[in-house]
Amino acid sequence: MTVPEKVYLAPMEGVCDPPLRHMLCAQGCYDECFSEFIRVTDVPLPAKTLLREVPELKEDCCTADGTPVRVQLLGDNAEMMAASAQRAAALGARGIDLNFGCPSRFVHHAGAMLLREPELIRRITATVRETLDQSIFLSVKMRLGFADPAEAPDLVRAAAVPGLNEIIIHARTRKELYRKDSLHWDVIGTLHEAASGIPLVANGDIVDAESAQHCMEQTGCTRLMAGRAALTEPNLGRMLKQGAAPLPLQEKLKLALSLFTLLDQYHFAVKSQLDRVKQFLGFVRRSDAQAAEFFAEFCRVNEIEAAKRQLTEKIEALA
Ligand SMILES: Cc1cc2nc3c(=O)[nH]c(=O)nc-3n(C[C@H](O)[C@H](O)[C@H](O)COP(=O)(O)O)c2cc1C
Repeated sequence: MTVPEKVYLAPMEGVCDPPLRHMLCAQGCYDECFSEFIRVTDVPLPAKTLLREVPELKEDCCTADGTPVRVQLLGDNAEMMAASAQRAAALGARGIDLNFGCPSRFVHHAGAMLLREPELIRRITATVRETLDQSIFLSVKMRLGFADPAEAPDLVRAAAVPGLNEIIIHARTRKELYRKDSLHWDVIGTLHEAASGIPLVANGDIVDAESAQHCMEQTGCTRLMAGRAALTEPNLGRMLKQGAAPLPLQEKLKLALSLFTLLDQYHFAVKSQLDRVKQFLGFVRRSDAQAAEFFAEFCRVNEIEAAKRQLTEKIEALA
């Protein structure tokens, strides 16, 4: 068994926000986690926005358990991306990631849409690198292409500007979105030369120690990033790095119950708290039939106190 050198918790907009990063990093033993993408338009990001999106900036840019948070920016304006990265660094960020992978139609000329413009990817990455203090870690997160994995070498070459520290690759194209039947770890394995020695991080469908092994074999990467499965298995980083067993359902439900308190701590409106706990359990339900059965019942609850009661009763029943 190869132990991954690093395991990262993936950025996930609308999912991995500060309270979820707090909860998952405390369980997962990740080397680093990422902010959700922060959109940069035609002005540098105001400090207020950065501090709202990444409150960890006030805590040495680490989650409560001490996991560093990399700040992810998304945009198409090289100068504004650079100025925003500098501002994040001035506020305490030690790592910046540039998003060239978001497939949403709503991001228009940004994210994965830029995979059709390797020259612009190069310009943004080079401008950010040249203007950012060299001590600040800089990475790019991308997909294998817009329409075809054969685009990957050119895209990686475009991103691989001198001084870039890492290239994170989701093993699908923009067109493949999140399709189960389209995953090309083997293509990542062919990209090391195009990356000119810049370390590659493999991402996509790493769900347990076994898939992590297959992924490392096929990609030749020792740095991994996990997203959705980190919610299904909240201790996924520990599973991959330390051979830990998955948490039993009882422990996952305890986390769901504690998430109400965390959401309160992070000033989440009461009316959104139940939705967020359901969202978390929606990922947990993928772990097994028992979890799926509980989720089917839990979904019908519409009131916070009833939800907490239902969780408490199930936790006791599983004890
Ligand atoms: C709900 C959701 C939100 C996401 N938001 C982001 C994001 O803000 N930035 C980003 O680079 N990738 C984002 N992604 C992509 C993930 O970081 C990751 O690349 C993808 O889910 C594949 O990894 P996985 O199979 O381990 O989940 C998002 C994915 C999902 C499912």
